[in-house]
Amino acid sequence: MFQTLEWTNEGVVMIDQRKLPAEELYPIFTTYQEVAQAIKDMVVRGAPAIGVAAAMGVALGAKHIETGNAQEFERQFGEICATLASTRPTAVNLFWAIERMKRVFQQHFQQGDLQKVKRALEAEAVQMHEEDVDLNRRMGSFGAGLIGDNQRVLTHCNAGALATAGYGTALGVIRAAVEQGKKIQVFADETRPFLQGARLTAWELQKDQIPVTVITDNMAGYFMQQGKIDCVVVGADRIAANGDVANKIGTYSVAVLAKENNIPFYVAAPISTLDLSLPSGDHIPIEQRPSREVTHIQQSAIAPEGVEVANPAFDVTPNRYVTAIITERGVARLPYLESLRQLAGAEREDAPGLG
Ligand code: MRU
Repeated sequence: MFQTLEWTNEGVVMIDQRKLPAEELYPIFTTYQEVAQAIKDMVVRGAPAIGVAAAMGVALGAKHIETGNAQEFERQFGEICATLASTRPTAVNLFWAIERMKRVFQQHFQQGDLQKVKRALEAEAVQMHEEDVDLNRRMGSFGAGLIGDNQRVLTHCNAGALATAGYGTALGVIRAAVEQGKKIQVFADETRPFLQGARLTAWELQKDQIPVTVITDNMAGYFMQQGKIDCVVVGADRIAANGDVANKIGTYSVAVLAKENNIPFYVAAPISTLDLSLPSGDHIPIEQRPSREVTHIQQSAIAPEGVEVANPAFDVTPNRYVTAIITERGVARLPYLESLRQLAGAEREDAPGLG
């Protein structure tokens, strides 16, 4: 198997997802600025993986603070958190993870031992990594019950081990169904423009010997109409209080097609992906990415130079298209305002990325 990301004494080691499937490289990122750049450039991507990478970046940055002056230490810590928070705007797990690191900082900083603060931050980041794998397995066991034997499951983007600390959310549900002995055939949308489906989902499912067929994004409707898809399972980057789901661009089209064809549309995401501070998906910030991702495939231009390009990285699927949301605490169904609040625990409803 492979490790998506790992904390080491020298820095954060991450599989370079830009290079897959052609090359399996594990560069090391030795400063928090390098980790922030890696998140921006999508060396590491996928909401939960971004969260864990940011937590590791915060721990790494704090570890390298040289001053013994508490006020200056606090100032530099704030700068580290702000740099990591400015990398990608949509996945709320990023902000959830940084907030969690800030809370650990506050708990230990009061006591005045700066070395202890550094050690506590490192321990927290490592714990977040471990927790993420565990909760994906729990999510998998809840979700696997929704998938029948011999089903054909469509997924969009990559919500697998590569998008998390391990096992995956949407692909975790599929893995858990396979572990229960079910025969599953996965259809993976290639997911233009970054090709997470063709490059990453296909790569990791092949490694696990789970049958996968790659299709281009515009083929999903055809296969649904032909009766070749039994359900859809995708991940999420942010889920609003009413159950509107932000996920990789193209997810909304898949959800509409699924409804038109009476196919269940499931979203698998940890509680840390909920943002109950937002009443609906209209408030979710949508990242706009560089035009080069659309005009080029690797070094080759596929559009005329200078052409106008739009590249929103995510879209919002309204809750009415979502059959169920699978979390590590159970499965939520409409009305999501109530079911999500119940799962998250109402007492922390003002925090971004409840958990
Ligand atoms: O731009 P990306 O590759 O970070 O987008 C990833 C997705 O949209 C995933 O579906 C989502 O983060 C869930 S990952 C478990």
